[in-house]
Amino acid sequence: MSKFTEWLAGRAAAREDAGLTRRLFASDSSGPMIDLAGNDYLGLSRHPRVVAGAVRAAERYGAGAGASRLVTGTLTVHEDLEADLAAFTGFPAALAFSTGYHANLATVSALTDADTLIVSDAHVHASLIDACRLARADVAVVPHNDVAAVERFLAGRTQERAIVLVETIYSVLGDAAPLGELADVCRRHEAVLVADEAHALGVCGVEGRGLLHAAGLAGQDHVVATLTLSKSLGSQGGAVLATPAVREHLVNTARPFIYDTGLAPAAAGAASAALEVIRHEPERVARVRAVASALAKAGDVPEADGAVLAIAMPGPREAVDAVARAAQRGIRIGCFRPPSTPDEISRLRLTAHAHLTDDEVEQATTVLRDLLS
Ligand SMILES: Cc1ncc(COP(=O)(O)O)c(C=O)c1O
Repeated sequence: MSKFTEWLAGRAAAREDAGLTRRLFASDSSGPMIDLAGNDYLGLSRHPRVVAGAVRAAERYGAGAGASRLVTGTLTVHEDLEADLAAFTGFPAALAFSTGYHANLATVSALTDADTLIVSDAHVHASLIDACRLARADVAVVPHNDVAAVERFLAGRTQERAIVLVETIYSVLGDAAPLGELADVCRRHEAVLVADEAHALGVCGVEGRGLLHAAGLAGQDHVVATLTLSKSLGSQGGAVLATPAVREHLVNTARPFIYDTGLAPAAAGAASAALEVIRHEPERVARVRAVASALAKAGDVPEADGAVLAIAMPGPREAVDAVARAAQRGIRIGCFRPPSTPDEISRLRLTAHAHLTDDEVEQATTVLRDLLS
């Protein structure tokens, strides 16, 4: 055995011992399941108009953008999507990326320098953590949703600039950030609030326009939103919403934008079509929240702020066992185990979906009650 294979085997054995081995499985090969694990909150990935939007764009522009955006990879389907996203969320400008991960890497790395302090909530998504690692800035991590701690770091900083990183709905616990207070603290201390709307777009705020829109913060100079097209919009890709000046800065300086092939036309076309569906069928947004509420009651946890519910489990093995028992009864649920949890606590993660029928919700809540009894 080479040193390399020995190292791989050692790491695999350690994972197995800790009950932390992850396995991939094709979800289309396990028979019909009620999905309480995925992020296609509104069921739009299979909506005929969304699929048709993807097909139309692929037929018109091809399967790929063919180049990075600054070369020949900017297509009118990107410009249309950016205009649609800005109009929907109330921001003056948008820039599309090939993933939400890229949008976060680009935003944090391009809006900071050696004279910037990044103040990051302890629960932010891995893409924002990696973005901090990429940035050449000092980083302070504050306890979850602790506005006073954010203010202490902003007030005491020696760096000229500062940005604060949060998610509007947190992907693990499913709770909301205190956006109004955070934006106020940022404004008073000349800092920029970067808020990831990945789990709020299409689910929260008026007709799913997101929590920054709901808080009246969309379009303010010191507020930047990032998002993904891969959750409630049922497509793939990401975007940044901000002022035209921020957009222009990203186009010129953000390496994950400049050195990356433009978003695939089908993904852009699908996302625009999804926004159109949400505008015409706002009842989907109300439905996903009603399903979340039913799941919260069954799981005996507080009402969710969005579509994500977290149920703490004694340990990783218990979490995996509960997922397997749910699967045997036709319900797919997810779990987060270390290192994917911000606090070492393993949790079941349930997501609500607007397209579940009443019967499916009934079945899901029955199984959930049994699992937790
Ligand atoms: C909060 C958050 N931000 C960003 C991302 C990354 O988005 P994408 O999957 O489009 O790369 C995700 C999840 O995928 C997420 O949950």
